[in-house]
Amino acid sequence: MTESDRLIDAAISARDNAYAPYSNFQVGAAVRGESGAVYTGCNVENAAYPEGLCAEANALGAMVLAGERRAVEIAVAGDGEGLCTPCGGCRQKIREFAADTIPILVCGPEGLRQRFTLGELLPAAFGPDNLT
Ligand code: THU
Repeated sequence: MTESDRLIDAAISARDNAYAPYSNFQVGAAVRGESGAVYTGCNVENAAYPEGLCAEANALGAMVLAGERRAVEIAVAGDGEGLCTPCGGCRQKIREFAADTIPILVCGPEGLRQRFTLGELLPAAFGPDNLT
């Protein structure tokens, strides 16, 4: 099993814990930091709908909480037939802690569906370098 396979499995498992009673759309995410550690998150919705949190945001928060600042690969596992690509806000959140070249593995409950780079999903991004 490759590191990418393990990341995909972690995202699929995290999806099982999603709290998504409003959309019924469960998402799990797994981030591998440059240390090799894997951080997971799931979407957590709220009766006040805009207060819901995406799986990717929660996984990145877990990485930062653990003291890491650099993501090297991300897997996202969603529901449905379509590709569960990270939303626009999450693409920007990922950009804060990752290079344009990092792989984003978009998965369904059965496994990998399509591989993107962050640069493909968020071209010409505004990022931390713009402020230095
Ligand atoms: N969602 C995520 O957690 N990540 C994505 O990449 C796409 C969407 C969540 C937000 C909301 O809880 C539900 O999926 C439906 O939009």
